[in-house]
Amino acid sequence: MTTADRYTTFAEREARGVSPAYERLSEAVSRDDELLARIDTLPPAKRQPNLLFAVVRLLGGPVTDPVAFRGYALANWPAVEAELRVRATQTNEPGRCAVLLPVLAALPGPLALLEVGASAGLNLYPDRYAYRYGDHPLGTGEPVLDCAMSGTTPPTRRPEVVWRAGLDLNPLDVTDPADVAWLDALIWPEHGHRRERLRAASAVAAADPPLLVRGDLVDDLPALAARAPRDATLVVFHTSVLYQVPPPRREAFAEVVRGLPGHWIANEDPDVLRYPALPEQPPGGFHNVLALDGKPLAWTRGHGQAMTWFGSPPCTVASTRAERPGCT
Ligand SMILES: C[S@@+](CC[C@H](N)C(=O)[O-])C[C@H]1O[C@@H](n2cnc3c(N)ncnc32)[C@H](O)[C@@H]1O
Repeated sequence: MTTADRYTTFAEREARGVSPAYERLSEAVSRDDELLARIDTLPPAKRQPNLLFAVVRLLGGPVTDPVAFRGYALANWPAVEAELRVRATQTNEPGRCAVLLPVLAALPGPLALLEVGASAGLNLYPDRYAYRYGDHPLGTGEPVLDCAMSGTTPPTRRPEVVWRAGLDLNPLDVTDPADVAWLDALIWPEHGHRRERLRAASAVAAADPPLLVRGDLVDDLPALAARAPRDATLVVFHTSVLYQVPPPRREAFAEVVRGLPGHWIANEDPDVLRYPALPEQPPGGFHNVLALDGKPLAWTRGHGQAMTWFGSPPCTVASTRAERPGCT
């Protein structure tokens, strides 16, 4: 895929209907030979639209008007390039807990959560956040995560979590203002509600920080998993991570995680983590697939704002009835 194709695809598949500003910017970049030539001097992983737009935001540049964006990016290219070379897309979206919760709530607790590609670890607190599945509220406090759910009934309880750990190539720290500035820059321009959510979730994490370990999701997962308490159900999970991992390493990761005790929850792009058969994707743009132990269960929107369940009901996802104490 050329860089121009990459920007067109981002505009059509990810930004359309979600961020008009990034749709405009991405379309404009896809037609801009001068900017594309600059971007193409970078390694492929650094050419990602989201990364370029976030870097310009971080530097204080304009990201809603394509002409102003272009002028800024070209005039400040040395600074833009320097940031692109040292940064990666590490968007930490606690809203994704809303699509993980139906599965987590159905597993036998208490849970030991291990997130790979955890960024700052904000998805390690599904038991602390409040939720609104349409007209069905669950829990109290902040943030409140809204999710439009169809195909099954919303969860009625939150899981008990006794251990939370994250593994990341570059863990971010919500108590470090520089890391929070980067997390904020990664949020798309129109998404004030996500900025609020980041602030509220960061306060939850800062009050009881998770164990965050620097490492690779293949090489370092077994050692971190071995630190989980034995009397809890280990749940290894990941959301929007494997697109950053080369295909052979994705295979190696799946091998490692299948060899661990407990359960494996994946919430990933189906072009990246493939399944033999999936129902038709709902309309409305990009969707991930939520899967438990390799079995696909639901389509989910990128920031956790909606899910369309198509698998077995959540209460039956664990393998035996004895493993489902919270279900009737
Ligand atoms: C797009 S972010 C998603 C963060 C979080 N899972 C979420 O959904 O909010 C992807 C994260 O995966 C991490 N990552 C990428 N490749 C990795 C690897 N091989 N091992 C561990 N972490 C990795 C990145 O550093 C980044 O923090």
